Amino acid sequence: MATLIDGKAIAKLIESETLDDISRLRNAHGIAPGLAVVLVGNDPASKVYVGMKGKTSLRLGMTSVTETRPADVEENELLALVTQLNHEPTIHGILVQLPLPKHIDTHKIIDTIDPKKDVDGLHPQNIGLLCAGRPRFIPCTPYGVVELLIRSKVSPRGKEVVVLGRSNLVGRPVANLLSSKTKYGDATVTVCHSRSSSLPEICRRADILISAIGQKKYVTADYIKPGAVVIDVGIHRLSEEEGGGLCGDVDFQSVAEVASMITPVPGGVGPMTIAMLMRNTVDAALRSVSGF
Ligand SMILES: NC(=O)c1ccc[n+]([C@@H]2O[C@H](COP(=O)([O-])OP(=O)(O)OC[C@H]3O[C@@H](n4cnc5c(N)ncnc54)[C@H](OP(=O)(O)O)[C@@H]3O)[C@@H](O)[C@H]2O)c1
Repeated sequence: MATLIDGKAIAKLIESETLDDISRLRNAHGIAPGLAVVLVGNDPASKVYVGMKGKTSLRLGMTSVTETRPADVEENELLALVTQLNHEPTIHGILVQLPLPKHIDTHKIIDTIDPKKDVDGLHPQNIGLLCAGRPRFIPCTPYGVVELLIRSKVSPRGKEVVVLGRSNLVGRPVANLLSSKTKYGDATVTVCHSRSSSLPEICRRADILISAIGQKKYVTADYIKPGAVVIDVGIHRLSEEEGGGLCGDVDFQSVAEVASMITPVPGGVGPMTIAMLMRNTVDAALRSVSGF
């Protein structure tokens, strides 16, 4: 039976390191790192995520601003809001909760965020830096995934890694990091997507399998090489008939019989995403006092 990778415990550890830097900023520079989150519309899941981000920043003694706008907000108003936050000196990090309503050009909004405040790491400048192997802000979920591995003493170096999913938010950046010439990298990485064929066969090559496909319990034991490490990024709400609660992309019960280590859902990647957002915001504040 696989050992659990405890995302909650590792996130707590990262939070405590982040807290040390927050104290340093307060004592040496008299500033509190500030995070602004922009929420458009009424999507219940987005509301929960934004609420958790705000609560965590306040708990760590950071400044937290949540800007909510109705679903029919005009694109120009949103662009003006982001520009205003770019110029607000008490705000070090800006995150626009995705997805945005269809009438808004998401690229335009992301491109307007000051890259030095782009704590979600989605601005093209930050994606470029990540691809060039000198990351400024690593997108929070991929950052959480690689920290989970490193802190669980699973080095990706020389390993075969298979990443399921190629989204800009998770699959691509995590594959990039794992193949980079950094402490998070040096792996041989294969990226799979909805057009990939022979998925189970490719996945069975993986020493480390990372699933970010958004398909409930899709990855079963036949995808897993015995002894592999499995990181489940997916989050899905189960219906009453399915027993309620949350599950991931991975069929936990069957996969845990074959893998050596596995992340649970909830309690795996989820808490890490928030911890890394706080880390990125504090890093933005640290860079602001050192003149970037
Ligand atoms: N834990 C967290 O904090 C956190 C954060 C972000 C996301 N998530 C979760 O992670 C999952 C993925 O998120 P995302 O934003 O990356 O999703 P996304 O934008 O929908 O991307 C999904 C990717 O998976 C691929 N895919 C879909 N079905 C597939 C299949 N049957 N076989 C192989 N590949 C398949 C898609 O391929 P194509 O490119 O060909 O369409 C796409 O590249 C979701 O469940 C999301 O809720 C969790």
